[in-house]
Amino acid sequence: MSKNLTLWDKAKREGRRLSFITAYDYAFAKLAEQSGIDGVLIGDSLGMMMAGDPHTLFVSLEQMEYHTRIVARAIQRALIMADLPFGSFEQSPEQAFGAAARLIKAGAQIVKLEGGAAMVETVAFISARGIPVCAHIGLTPQHLHQFGGFKRQGKTQEAAAKLFDDAVALADAGARMVLMEAIPANLATEITQRLSVPTIGIGAGAGTDAQILVLHDVLGINPDHAPSFAKAYLNGAALMRQALEQYAGEVRSGSFPAAPEADPQISKP
Ligand code: KIV
Repeated sequence: MSKNLTLWDKAKREGRRLSFITAYDYAFAKLAEQSGIDGVLIGDSLGMMMAGDPHTLFVSLEQMEYHTRIVARAIQRALIMADLPFGSFEQSPEQAFGAAARLIKAGAQIVKLEGGAAMVETVAFISARGIPVCAHIGLTPQHLHQFGGFKRQGKTQEAAAKLFDDAVALADAGARMVLMEAIPANLATEITQRLSVPTIGIGAGAGTDAQILVLHDVLGINPDHAPSFAKAYLNGAALMRQALEQYAGEVRSGSFPAAPEADPQISKP
């Protein structure tokens, strides 16, 4: 069992909330690690944040392996979770195990898969074979077309009851964590209190054991639209644009690079 995962279980028992963020590459993963973030998710949101896709459905297992490998190089302390991408796990538990094993070999310590009750058998199969699983319920972006858009879930009493039952069934099947996206805060709190495994929320209120956000939303560098539940802690896009404009301006004006005699760092041949 990953030492990291037992620490997460302990944090839940002690009522300490933990922070999670997505990471897709070495440089930003290193920043997350240095910032004391508790866990990084190599999310299939990389399709949207890194590749400019309109949703997460085009992401391949090979892409996930590549990004998991380069993130894992930067991480010694934080928990490393990687997403099973659309099409890589839904057919059978065996297919899911094969895909999950590839992400573990790339450096993940736990894999995340989207889906409710339909994934119970798969979660049991993978968990029993040594791979920790996080079950993602609520707004599962891989079901975008079924939902008719990125829409909040669990709004009716019936839908909320189904999500509650799904969470319990997935945890009973062996899920080591349950991630809940865009569901009512009171429902997420009830599920958190019912489960003995840690829950992670995004757009699910403050009653979950941990919180996750997409890195590009936190830094204010989402190239498109951040969801309403996200919070930007920096206007990163404006700051970076400013730096790039300054650099381009200095190159155009000839003030950069400086003449060798004016720059002590440049040694003359
Ligand atoms: O892919 C992702 O970034 C995610 C988070 C939004 C939870 O699944």
